[in-house]
Amino acid sequence: MQPLSESRQRERVSVHIHDTARAACQVLAGEIAELIRSRAREGRQAVLGLATGSTPVSLYRELIRLHKEEGLSFANVVTFNLDEYYGIPRDHPESYWSFMHQQLFNHIDLPASQLHIPDGTLPRSAVFDACRQYEEAITAHGGLDLQILGIGRTGHIGFNEPGSGRDSRTRLVTLDALTRRDAERDFPGEDKVPRYAVTMGVGTILQARSIVLLAWGEAKARVIAQAVEGEQRESLPASFLQQHDNVRFLLDNAAAGELTRVKLPWLVGPVEWTPPLSHRAVTWLSEKVQRPLLKLLDEHYAEHGMADLLTTQGPAYTLNIHHFNDMQHTITGWPGGKAGADDTHRPERATPYPKRVLVLAPEPSDEMLGMGGTLTRLVEQGHEVTVAYLTSGSLAVSDEEAEMAAELISGYLGTEDRDKSCHFHKDKEPATLRSESEEADRRRLKRLIRRGEARQALHSANVPVTAAHFLDLPFYETGRYRQFYPGEADVNAITEIVLKVRPHMTFATGAGQEPNSVGAICFSLLLKALRAARGDGSESCGYTDNCHIWLYRTPDKAWQTHEINMAVPLSPSQLAQKTRSIYQHKRQRDTAPDTSDTKAWQIAESANRTLAKAYDALGMAEYEAIEAFQRWEAEKC
Ligand code: F6R
Repeated sequence: MQPLSESRQRERVSVHIHDTARAACQVLAGEIAELIRSRAREGRQAVLGLATGSTPVSLYRELIRLHKEEGLSFANVVTFNLDEYYGIPRDHPESYWSFMHQQLFNHIDLPASQLHIPDGTLPRSAVFDACRQYEEAITAHGGLDLQILGIGRTGHIGFNEPGSGRDSRTRLVTLDALTRRDAERDFPGEDKVPRYAVTMGVGTILQARSIVLLAWGEAKARVIAQAVEGEQRESLPASFLQQHDNVRFLLDNAAAGELTRVKLPWLVGPVEWTPPLSHRAVTWLSEKVQRPLLKLLDEHYAEHGMADLLTTQGPAYTLNIHHFNDMQHTITGWPGGKAGADDTHRPERATPYPKRVLVLAPEPSDEMLGMGGTLTRLVEQGHEVTVAYLTSGSLAVSDEEAEMAAELISGYLGTEDRDKSCHFHKDKEPATLRSESEEADRRRLKRLIRRGEARQALHSANVPVTAAHFLDLPFYETGRYRQFYPGEADVNAITEIVLKVRPHMTFATGAGQEPNSVGAICFSLLLKALRAARGDGSESCGYTDNCHIWLYRTPDKAWQTHEINMAVPLSPSQLAQKTRSIYQHKRQRDTAPDTSDTKAWQIAESANRTLAKAYDALGMAEYEAIEAFQRWEAEKC
């Protein structure tokens, strides 16, 4: 075991890694509770800087629990939020004012006079003064004791986008294109994402006495590694946190995944060479020195921190052949196993054949993006495929689209009186003022739109539309982004489909995603459902078959070569068919606002091509495209 300080030699801030976001939040909430209580004992206030977004949701839930179950009082707490969108009313469902009240303030005893959120509703001429007053109010309260931060994929903290100076103060800023794209799911409909925000500056944040930055999920891993290990620079404002003498990064395993000590531990100290670690190291080496596996030399190993691997498992020739074979064995054109063939070195068993296969899509289109080509193959190779759409995906459909569908329906019904067929009108009311039944009608139309797209996509992929099952999980239908409360009814619905299909193979996604994302919620529900379906293993307890679970990924976070257990090549025409299927989903045809011309479906296509190139570069056969899967260890369930 290497000494801690050695493995952390590249880290310029203090980093704490927890198994889950929940575990990290329990620790932090405990510390906050201690701060509040010790201040209360001294008759003083605790001044907290708060953040919004998905990241702090679990922290706020834990603080609410401490208030309700352990009597933690917030009466002596003063809060200052980092930021607020500019140009939307306070009662807009996506304002940070609404967010903070829904997620925290409405559930604790914080006096309304002690909470502060920048005002995004002022006329521009008044913003400058208001920002100055915001800073003065922080100072008047003695400064921030603790500032909680999330981090954006641009490296922003607060809304200090790339380009923000180290000494910037509270001000009106323009949101970065990537930030607006990330916010798009909250503001469905083009041009609805605010363009501006009011945010505390980097300088304001750095004045807090202590700072804790939270990050969960693999999507944050890259920016976290840059902020922790990279140079300080304006193009990555979170890197300025390195200047603070009391800052901590609290991460889950997935968000820590790109730190050198996690990703490339052999570069920062001695390691125990387990088979997966040596596989990762050897494929990394091949990519690093840009040579196929079979052409790696002893000196390549020695020069890249792998001399001890060479000594214990070498020479290079032996290591090269071993890992070449391992990679080679991941490739198969028979994702459901090949009947009658020796399956010793195949990713999937030959028998039973055909197999019952359950494909789970957290939202419609996930299955096409992640495994559209494989889905087609499974059907063509005679397997009994069921595609279960866990959520309806209705939250991603814009009001405009639903309105257009309503127009179509009324036109088709031949009535000019739209109130009879569907009682909503274009631009009638802002979302906050709509009646419940009107909202329910919109939601229903949005569900139907996505069902239609999903069926059309299956049809294009040669999958019978009868394979589709729409579960419309209740946590999604009754929730909004960041306000999902999954429960027993959700687990039961998945258990039911598992017991009905009794799959030999289940394809799923969402492991390692940010814990409040739809994908991650669906994945943890699946694990619970599998446990429930297995019961205690007795005959009467339902599902006891030996089911292999295969994880697919959507293209924004493709598997790296060393993580892959099954690689399914696609020919040019198979890739084209997959692309046509993806194209049936409107959201995949859209260009993200303010970004390049890249459409979402093109990202999927290029991810499959990039993986094929990576296999080629390792010395495998040259394919047009590859879809990849990782086997989920049963004991992890
Ligand atoms: C929110 C804020 C932002 C978020 C960041 C991450 O008040 O200031 O910097 O912390 O955009 O957002 P999530 O947590 O949604 O990934």
